[in-house]
Amino acid sequence: MRVVVLGAAAGGAFPQWNSNAQPCRRARAGDPAAIPSTQASIAVSADGHHWVLLNASPDIRQQIEQTPALQPQEGLRSSPIAAVVLTGGDVDAITGLLTLRERQAFSVLATPRVHQVLDDNPIFEVLARGIVARQPVVLDTPTPVTLPDGEASGLTVTLFAVPGKVPLYLEQPGAAPALEESDQTVGAAVSDGRATLFFVPSCAAMVPGLAERLRGAEAVFFDGTLWTDDEMIRAGLGPKTGQRMGHMSVSGPDGTLAAFAGLEVKRRILLHINNSNPILLADSPERAEVSAAGWDVAYDGMELTL
Ligand code: MLT
Ligand code: MN
Repeated sequence: MRVVVLGAAAGGAFPQWNSNAQPCRRARAGDPAAIPSTQASIAVSADGHHWVLLNASPDIRQQIEQTPALQPQEGLRSSPIAAVVLTGGDVDAITGLLTLRERQAFSVLATPRVHQVLDDNPIFEVLARGIVARQPVVLDTPTPVTLPDGEASGLTVTLFAVPGKVPLYLEQPGAAPALEESDQTVGAAVSDGRATLFFVPSCAAMVPGLAERLRGAEAVFFDGTLWTDDEMIRAGLGPKTGQRMGHMSVSGPDGTLAAFAGLEVKRRILLHINNSNPILLADSPERAEVSAAGWDVAYDGMELTL
């Protein structure tokens, strides 16, 4: 199984369009320790020819242009992208679908709840339903991904609930949304029958069932949004904690590094990294700390073979 990180950053990317904070300034200035990153998505292939995307980021057009394997290989119009699997309804996970219009066949796999978000937003009808199949996926059910011609892709995806909240634009004004484990925020396990890769770009807490699912895994991409829960408040960038945004932090006793200690996951890779998170900076003490703990920080163009 081949894996390419198309984008490693959280919503807003790095640098974010309206951020003048120092890390974004460093990225814009070409500082080699502050490499720009697009919004989180990975591509997976069993055969090296047909690719399944996990989430469709708003940066998908740039990601395709940066990734030769995803560019048309034959005829006047074609695409190696066979399917898109969605792990939630957030803007940074779904809006790349709008770029994939132009009557190209592929399928969109998501839970019924996430499909409902697409169904409720008529702009997604630009993906003509007779051409782009909307395939509901039942939680905890291994689902083979098929190519547009009906052949097997060689990949099977299993979606599973993780603690999360409704997308930002569906929150009720004035009230913090409840965190729930349901089919609105999910992780994906992708298998080619030999290796299994986990992709969990958004997760509000490490709950026991999730820990057991990930225990001993070969490779996990995990929510690396914030270093500390209140970093955006302390930096003056916004009023919300990471918990309020549905994300657990990388550091601290309830953080991701601590949660994975003892899970014996072989490749641990942080992804969906907010532009306020110092692990994006190669020369930061926080980056040194995650490296010392045996984690990788994903970057655009990172490749894995499992
Ligand atoms: C998040 O991951 O918290 C969301 O993508 C935020 C957003 O919609 O920008
Ligand atoms: Mn996000």
